[in-house]
Amino acid sequence: MKRDFVAITDFSREEIFETLVLARELKELQHNKAAPQPLAGKSVGLIFHKPSLRTRISFEVGVTQLGGNPIYITKQEIELGKRETIYDAAKVLSRYLGMIEIRTFSHEDVVQLAKYADVPVINGLTDLLHPCQVMSDIFTVQEKLGRVEDIKIAYLGDGNNVTNSWLNLVSLLSVQLVVATAKETPPNAEILRKARAAGRSEISIENDPRKAAKGAHILYTDVWASMGQKDESEKQRQLLSKFQLNSELLSLADKNAIVMHCLPAERGREITDEVMDGPQSVVFDQAENRLHMQKAIMTKLLV
Ligand code: CP
Ligand code: NVA
Repeated sequence: MKRDFVAITDFSREEIFETLVLARELKELQHNKAAPQPLAGKSVGLIFHKPSLRTRISFEVGVTQLGGNPIYITKQEIELGKRETIYDAAKVLSRYLGMIEIRTFSHEDVVQLAKYADVPVINGLTDLLHPCQVMSDIFTVQEKLGRVEDIKIAYLGDGNNVTNSWLNLVSLLSVQLVVATAKETPPNAEILRKARAAGRSEISIENDPRKAAKGAHILYTDVWASMGQKDESEKQRQLLSKFQLNSELLSLADKNAIVMHCLPAERGREITDEVMDGPQSVVFDQAENRLHMQKAIMTKLLV
């Protein structure tokens, strides 16, 4: 049966660890002529209904490095769900493509596409989740800290698609996750409930960013207003300004703590230049690792 990667919880705990190993192997083999090409002879559709730098380029490069042919498809071409039903589009795309990656607004549209497509579907970001990002991030954590469990993660700022994917991940790993956010900007309640019910991680929602940062091994932030929400930018700034990732908060964290941001950053808002350009920042390693992790995810879905 074909597999999809719409949410991190589409993988088991064991598969998360297997994918981390695969990402490391593919990273080591990147410039080796003998690197595997499991997408040889296949085309991969890359559907984007929202802008993208990292996801688009890392998927195009990743598909090419795996021997496949990437096809970039914008809203103008297919207007998923408008020009024809998602069912019809999924069936037709499956006749041409070996795999589909999609970034769009509605998470439900991606769930439907995955349901009806006969080929694997990968979620490249929806309003609800950003699973490829957080899988890449945990790979970066492993590289930098040498472990992915027994760590304290402080997520500071808007409870958004990235936060929700962290909650999905920690339902499968054992960590301490503190989400420091305003009461008006919490993560998704159902995803939070399920992550807690999984019983593996200690998860708290905190209004005091200092408590979250204290002793943390990872300080993570993201933009305060996500794509599709930019007209609420000023309101979000007022709600979230006390959660800015700055040197004062960093000074409370573990002395070897790493600073993470999925990018694009709005420098001077959710993160200061000093912290983002400082020695503890790993933001550009995170961006690079999108490539290696997505190659691992695509490979895993083919087996
Ligand atoms: N982090 C991330 O997904 O970046 P893009 O929006 O540029 O793809
Ligand atoms: N939360 C952000 C992530 C961007 C990669 C957004 O959805 O715009």
